[in-house]
Amino acid sequence: MAIALKKTGVADPAATPHWHAQAREIQKFGTVIEDLPHALNAKIRADMVAQLNQLLADSISLRDMYKKHHWQVSGPTFYQLHLLFDKHFDEQVEIVDTIAERVQLLGGVTVAMGGDVAEMTRIARPPRGREQVPVQISRLLEAHKLIIKSCLDISEAADKAGDQGTNDLVVSDVLRPNELQSWFLTEHLVEMPLVLEK
Ligand SMILES: [Fe+2]
Repeated sequence: MAIALKKTGVADPAATPHWHAQAREIQKFGTVIEDLPHALNAKIRADMVAQLNQLLADSISLRDMYKKHHWQVSGPTFYQLHLLFDKHFDEQVEIVDTIAERVQLLGGVTVAMGGDVAEMTRIARPPRGREQVPVQISRLLEAHKLIIKSCLDISEAADKAGDQGTNDLVVSDVLRPNELQSWFLTEHLVEMPLVLEK
């Protein structure tokens, strides 16, 4: 016995999601919201936001370089470096989020997308291809050095401006973890035989 198919119909338009939304930006990049319930005035916050956005762009670059190296590493130390690079990547994800949320909290707008980060970052762009381990580590160390110097500059500027929140964040949540990661990398570049010669 043939079963009649139910006639398919078109749903009520009220059930259709409005997924083609377009409108102007609500806040331009490079601006800060003036009237906020915040103890710091807009001028100080704008200055801090500019410096934090540069730190953010550099940290996003470093974060992504860790993933590139995690994927592309090779050689006798493959396993440990594969894992170490990914551990540092995960920690940089946290660092990036912490800086970004401080930018928004201060009334600014975060740099976020890859293309914009590529235009802003001061970290040298690595090639698309694979590189040897010492080159990978050297690139990461250069990036850490730049970020560590940046943290010292920003924390000093924040202290002078009275922005102790930024000062504390940059030292505790960015500077120290970057110093630690840098140390873990540096020790891989010391020539150390696995077996002692007699
Ligand atoms: Fe992975």
